[in-house]
Amino acid sequence: MKLAEFIGFVRENCLPNRHDALELASKAFSIDYSKIPLHLSDEIELTEGIQNMLERLQKGEPLAYVINNKSFYGLDMYVDGRVLIPRPETELVVTELLERFGAETELKVLDICTGSGCIPAALLAERPLWTADVIDISSDALDVAEINLGRYAHGRFRLKQGDALKMSDYPAGGYDIITCNPPYLTENEWENSPESLKYEPKNALSDGGDGLSFYKKLLDMIPDLCNKNGVALFELGQGQSVAVTAWIKGQNYRIIKDYQGIERVLVWTNSL
Ligand SMILES: C[S@@+](CC[C@H](N)C(=O)[O-])C[C@H]1O[C@@H](n2cnc3c(N)ncnc32)[C@H](O)[C@@H]1O
Repeated sequence: MKLAEFIGFVRENCLPNRHDALELASKAFSIDYSKIPLHLSDEIELTEGIQNMLERLQKGEPLAYVINNKSFYGLDMYVDGRVLIPRPETELVVTELLERFGAETELKVLDICTGSGCIPAALLAERPLWTADVIDISSDALDVAEINLGRYAHGRFRLKQGDALKMSDYPAGGYDIITCNPPYLTENEWENSPESLKYEPKNALSDGGDGLSFYKKLLDMIPDLCNKNGVALFELGQGQSVAVTAWIKGQNYRIIKDYQGIERVLVWTNSL
């Protein structure tokens, strides 16, 4: 079979999106994505490993898990079923922080609910003087975060297994930047979510309740964790900004909207 035929087969049977099909071909046959057009008439071999990938995709497993890769802020992040697949809207957190803080200062980052570690990995890849502490309740997730932070922030990070809802589980404070993309779907939203989301860890997506439990607790704790003039950025679920901002004392915050106009990121500044 030629590579072009393989791509056509994949688009017809499991990945209609052209970019996805090319990404699969790139990973499956170790061809640079941008060079695929030069290899379309190459003969390829459908090994057992590749047939297995196709079967997984046909059953509905997300491409990112099948190829163990998701691009985040232009960087390749290792992912598997132990972590949430990084989402494009989460890149807003990274963009905001890189626009706000230049490369010349040493800053300390705390990433809460780190999952794949995509947020601190992207930040530290761009800012060589920054260091990060990351916390997640799942030791499996921390194993994945270690891979990504090892790739992009070698020697500049510490991992901590702990419950984000318990202050006693945190490293001591002194952070300039705090980031968190917590599980924010309600139990009901999770139950009614598409089948593809069921491949992701449930506790990465939903807090098992009203979807708001992390925000209130975090807003209580961040004044003690964050340096003066430091910032905390939390990703928000659709429609959650009103409830979350009602818990903030003072006007030291703003909201960033995502590309769809949804109020997506809370930016809180420690002005006290
Ligand atoms: C929405 S995912 C975020 C992953 C990553 N930061 C991202 O933006 O792609 C939420 C993460 O929170 C973790 N988590 C869930 N409950 C937690 C808790 N009580 N304390 C700490 N981490 C928790 C999950 O293991 C998961 O990795």
